[in-house]
Amino acid sequence: MVASATEEHAPFVSPQIGWAEQQPDDWWAACTIAVPRALEIAGLRGDDIACLGFSGQMHGAVMLDESGRVVRPALIWCDVRTDAQCRELNEKIGAERIIQLTCNPALANFTLTKLLWVRENEPENWKRVRSVMLPKDYVRFQLTGERATDMADAAGTLLLDVANRRWSNEMLEAAEINRDLLPTLYESPDVCGKVSTRAAAATGLKAGTPVVAGAGDQAAGATGMGIVTPGAVSATIGTSGVVFAATDAPALDRQGRLHTFCHAIPGRWHVMGVTQSAGLSLRWFRDQFGAGPDDGRDPYERLTEEAETAPTGCKGLLWAPYLMGERTPHLDPRARGALVGITASHTRADVIRAILEGVAFSLRDTFSIFGEMNVPVKSVRLGGGGARSPLWRQIQADVYGHEVEIVEAEEGAAYGAALLAGVGAREWASVDEACASVVRVAKRVPPNADAIAVLNKNYAAYRRVYGATRDIFAY
Ligand code: XUL
Repeated sequence: MVASATEEHAPFVSPQIGWAEQQPDDWWAACTIAVPRALEIAGLRGDDIACLGFSGQMHGAVMLDESGRVVRPALIWCDVRTDAQCRELNEKIGAERIIQLTCNPALANFTLTKLLWVRENEPENWKRVRSVMLPKDYVRFQLTGERATDMADAAGTLLLDVANRRWSNEMLEAAEINRDLLPTLYESPDVCGKVSTRAAAATGLKAGTPVVAGAGDQAAGATGMGIVTPGAVSATIGTSGVVFAATDAPALDRQGRLHTFCHAIPGRWHVMGVTQSAGLSLRWFRDQFGAGPDDGRDPYERLTEEAETAPTGCKGLLWAPYLMGERTPHLDPRARGALVGITASHTRADVIRAILEGVAFSLRDTFSIFGEMNVPVKSVRLGGGGARSPLWRQIQADVYGHEVEIVEAEEGAAYGAALLAGVGAREWASVDEACASVVRVAKRVPPNADAIAVLNKNYAAYRRVYGATRDIFAY
């Protein structure tokens, strides 16, 4: 890694429960600040760059009009307003048939359901839509003028024939979506465009620099951590939480609790379980209750330090992180979060620790399903903010009951995207070769036997919270 730069953009807005929208032009504006900054930090010029990679949040629906302008804000990955559209798809096509065609069930997160919502609820907007793309592909469109995507990100639209890596004509026909709306498909390390003169002026990159397809954040993040062959598993806690396993064929959970998607490697797939509000749980706590006295340090560092003062298991306090509904294992966009078992002797520190443990319990649910499906788990690597906090690392090792590994490069999906660009530039012959030559384990954290015993007990109780509270909110 030579240099990195980030630029914040506005967070998502949630004008109604379950809604989540962002302005695609904010992503591009942030890109025109972060890219020149990264070049400046590195002391490089645009013509030093051999190739560009892409990654970004998955599943969002970006809709453009005839002149390439955004029609309405994007409905993003955690927007779950499309329960009715999922039911309509199941009634029309059949739930089993949808899994046969796309390897996945109709879930409110997936792009197709968002397009159907706009078509049904905002017909005037829908009439103007001439192309549809995923969030990172809008940045690519601004950079190159090309409408392109990769198999891994396309897999999260519910419009891809995931097993055969092509758009599913049958899904398109059944949902009455015109194929011309969709971008061209590429494998992640394939070159699919060049930086335009206009974008070169906006970013400091050189016009004509090749661009690879890249991948959605989960497949790119896993690539950056070397999760490329069966047995290798990652647990990433970002805003969402994901447990991800590489497979050499599509592996299906008949109940649809896991996503079966294409990997960022040609001829390989992956299976993953998703917690909607993982890091989001801690951010919600920070935003609502504060991170304690400001001593100039990162607020999450202060919060996790406070949590260290609470005992393992938080004296029975449990956090169910269903702030934006839940995917794995409940597939319930209406699920509600819960803090269960609070007493007068509990403290703020217990609550913060319960959040860290509850998020790890939620990720453990995916390991439990991997067990049922015989998906091998030989090593577990941690990614995202959950890998940076020493306490959250240890909690994860103890909750999963497995040693966890931390890799040297912490840039997550951006690092994976850069490796894909390196393959596109022929720096390496394959993604496997790229990972073998640069991904290194920096640290291993073994689980602690005493903590495992306490947390196993809490996990068993946690598993009962969803079923016990579901009916309270079913009005
Ligand atoms: C994966 C998912 C999230 C988003 C945002 O299915 O929804 O990881 O991509 O990070």
